[in-house]
Amino acid sequence: MADSSPSFDDLRTKLAEHGQEHVLRSWDRLSTSEQDRLKQQLLNLDLDLLDSLIAGTDEKKDFGGLAAAAQSPPAIRADGSGASWTPVQARQRGEQALRDGEVGAVIVAGGQGTRLGFAHPKGMFPIGPVSGRTLFQFFADRLIATRHRYGSRIPLYLMTSDATDEETRDDFESNDFLGLDPEDVIIFKQGTMPAVDAASGKLLLSAADSLALSPDGHGGTVTALARNGCLEDARRRGVKHLAYIQVDNPLADLCDPALLGHHLLAESEMTTQVVRKRDPLERVGNVVLVDGRIQIIEYSDLPEEAARACSEDGQLKLWAGNIAVHVIDVGFLERSSRSAGSLPFHRALKKVPFLSEDGKEINPEAPNATKFERFIFDLLPEARNAFVVEARASESFAPVKNAEGAPSDTPALAKAAISDLHSRWLEQAGAVVDSGVQVEINPRFALDSGELAEKIPANLRIDVDRYFDSGVE
Ligand code: UD1
Repeated sequence: MADSSPSFDDLRTKLAEHGQEHVLRSWDRLSTSEQDRLKQQLLNLDLDLLDSLIAGTDEKKDFGGLAAAAQSPPAIRADGSGASWTPVQARQRGEQALRDGEVGAVIVAGGQGTRLGFAHPKGMFPIGPVSGRTLFQFFADRLIATRHRYGSRIPLYLMTSDATDEETRDDFESNDFLGLDPEDVIIFKQGTMPAVDAASGKLLLSAADSLALSPDGHGGTVTALARNGCLEDARRRGVKHLAYIQVDNPLADLCDPALLGHHLLAESEMTTQVVRKRDPLERVGNVVLVDGRIQIIEYSDLPEEAARACSEDGQLKLWAGNIAVHVIDVGFLERSSRSAGSLPFHRALKKVPFLSEDGKEINPEAPNATKFERFIFDLLPEARNAFVVEARASESFAPVKNAEGAPSDTPALAKAAISDLHSRWLEQAGAVVDSGVQVEINPRFALDSGELAEKIPANLRIDVDRYFDSGVE
């Protein structure tokens, strides 16, 4: 072999010990820069961990057993019941934390959005039903309005992946950081995990100089926040609580004072917002209680019988659907990042293009590879006083996951949900919105129905599509 540096020889020996030396088969034909690229990827691998994942000796959950033991989680319900404090007290407590500058925001935006069929980071998808604002702009506007209302900075920690990082940075940099203060926008990249051949456990190459790598799941947020100095940055700023959302849900109420307040009054390290599932087999995670601990069983892991089970009152037993809106304490994340090995890996059988032994690019027609991902919600059972708060789906959940035409979670359905919610706000404020008319309210105009009522004229009639744009600078 051309490269005789000790680290390369060590690496080759190590790969051989783990039965993975085939990844070096084209080494001699690679240019120096190609060799460097592959070497760096291999040096980043934890081969012992990979061995245990392939052998299945890492701790795997018995989802059948978990589902059988799963109970409905204790939760503050959407009507405010279930707590020893009132919704008003929760809101006031959350507002105090916002005023005190104790809150930061985390948006995970590393996913490739394959199901949506959009060739850019999902955050760049235009979702405003009237304005055409992107998902990134939706959340930036919400942060600007929240900062304006409470008068303190809210840093945004935005997680990207290899697939989304460059375009995301370009989008922010070429659009004046979407109106945010650049000092408050911290874009950081999550880690990767290699895909292996499902039958043999051999590492797959996507090219002669590259492993088939994919993002390590949003559970990678924990180590990525620590590795990229975001937790230190939060500490320096006095930020103690992070409001976490996924980029795909334009109705996610980022930095909702009520949710923050519930979290604080419950002295919880991690609080999760849920909605009542609309159908037993809805493709959302199930928030449950097992042996006194809150945890989430993903829809794909929950046996159908458990998903359909009803309580004595005829209501769905496992009713609480995960909308991936959490509040997580910085101190808890620091502790977890030091023992991130404790977050389990989940396996997914996927179609992964790869380079065959004779160097041909293969595009498999059936799933051929195992991918490994960590999920952020597996932190819940580890958190002190983990806590559940119910929200109404019509006010907080309209994810953009599937391409137009699919029965659920499409852009058209999300746009309709935004317009419907904002129509209701307008009606509560005394306006009349003609049927079939689309409306959209920028949070910089009004963050909620209460603020809207102060801004619009009495008896406003809306008979053409309308975007309420202007507001705070
Ligand atoms: C996810 C949840 C599900 C929940 C639903 C709500 C998981 C495993 N499942 O399902 O319980 O009910 O959302 O909408 O999370 N992401 C990254 N890096 C990654 C992987 C994902 O940043 O490595 C981000 C994506 O950009 C996206 C979000 O996480 O914003 C969701 O990921 P996705 O894989 O689409 O999860 P879902 O199947 O939609």
